[in-house]
Amino acid sequence: MTIGISELSSYVPPRILSNEELSKQVDTSDEWIQSHTGIRERRISDDGTFASDLAIVAGSEVLKRRGLDPGDVDLVLVATSSPDYNPFPSTASLVQEGLGCKNAGAFDLQAGCSGFVYGLESAKGMVAGGSMKRILVIGSEVLSKITNWKDRNTCVLFGDGAGAALVEDTGPEGHVILDSWLKSKGSDAGALTREAGGTRVPGAPESPDPRKFTISMNGKKVYLFAVDAIVRTIKALCERNGNAPEELDWIVPHQANARIIEAAAARLKLPIEKFFMNLDRFANTSAASIPIALEEMRERSLLSPGQTLLTVGFGAGLSYGGNLIRW
Ligand code: ACO
Repeated sequence: MTIGISELSSYVPPRILSNEELSKQVDTSDEWIQSHTGIRERRISDDGTFASDLAIVAGSEVLKRRGLDPGDVDLVLVATSSPDYNPFPSTASLVQEGLGCKNAGAFDLQAGCSGFVYGLESAKGMVAGGSMKRILVIGSEVLSKITNWKDRNTCVLFGDGAGAALVEDTGPEGHVILDSWLKSKGSDAGALTREAGGTRVPGAPESPDPRKFTISMNGKKVYLFAVDAIVRTIKALCERNGNAPEELDWIVPHQANARIIEAAAARLKLPIEKFFMNLDRFANTSAASIPIALEEMRERSLLSPGQTLLTVGFGAGLSYGGNLIRW
C-alpha cells in the first residue's frame, strides 16, 4: 500500500478585509502590518458562516474532483481551533452530515495551526491499518469569530478559510506521504491560548472576562518557538529520510508570518524562494493554511510529479511538525 493525497481543494470566504480598512478600526497601519508580518489582507466569514460551512464547500469539491460518491468516504477528520461548538458536537460530525458521507465516522483534531499536518499523518496511519480506505482531512477556521478586534497585537494576524485533502492508497504515482514528524512543547502551552470555554474557565455567565473567549498570545515567545520549530522539523525529516534540505523542491510552511519564515530560511541557509508563501492575501488561517497553500501551488502549476515537498506546521499547544511528501 502506498498512501498519499489523491485530491485537494480549498475555499475562502469572498469578503476581503484589507490592512487599510483594519487600520480604521484599531490603532495600526498598513505599513506596520506589512513590515512586521507580510500580511496585506485577509478573508472574513460573514456572521452566519461557521467552520463547518467552509469545510463542506472545500470537502464537496474534493469529492467532485475525485469523482467519488460521499458514501465512499470512511472518515471525516476536521482540524480546527474555531469549531462550531465548543467542544461538542464535533465540527466533523456536522461536515459528515452536510457532505452526505452516510457511511463515515467523524471527529475533530485539536493541534492548533499544526492540525492539518497531524491530520495527514493520522489519516495515513488509519488507512495503513486497514480499517479505512478513504479519509477526508479538512483544516477549517473562522478565526475572525474568536479574535479580539480591539487587540492590535493579534487581530491583524488572522483570517478565515478551509482546505481539504483526500487520503487513500494512491499507488506510487500518487502524492505519497513518505514520512511525518509530530512534536509538542507543552511547557509553553500558555503562550497561545483561548482560555475560556473548557472546564477550567467555564463559559458565561460565570466567566467574568469576555476577552478570555478570544485569542491571547505572547507574540515574542511564539515567534521564537515558531522559527525554532520550522528549523527542527526540516532538519529532522531530512535527516531521517536521507535528504539534504537544499534538495527539497518546496517547503510549505504554516502561513503565520513572513518574518518567521524568513528567519527560519536564513538559519537553515536556504533560499527564501524554496518556501511557498501566500499569507500576504490570506493571513494566518491556522489549520487551513497549509492545504490552502498546496491548492494554490497546484492551481499555479508550481507542483509537478516526483517533486519533494515538506509541510511544516506550528502553533497552539505548542505543537509542531511536518510531512514529507513526494508529489
Ligand atoms: N500595529 C501597530 N503597532 C503594533 C501592532 C499593530 N498591529 N501590534 C503591536 N504593535 C506595537 C506594540 O504595541 C509595540 O509597541 P511599544 O513598543 O510601544 O510597546 C511595538 O509594536 C512592537 O511590538 P512587538 O511585540 O515588539 O513587535 P514584534 O516586532 O515582536 O512583532 C509580532 C509582533 C508580529 C506579533 C511578532 O511577535 C510575531 O510575529 N510573533 C509570532 C506570532 C504569530 O505569528 N502568531 C500567530 C499565531 S501562532 C501561529 O500560527 C504559530
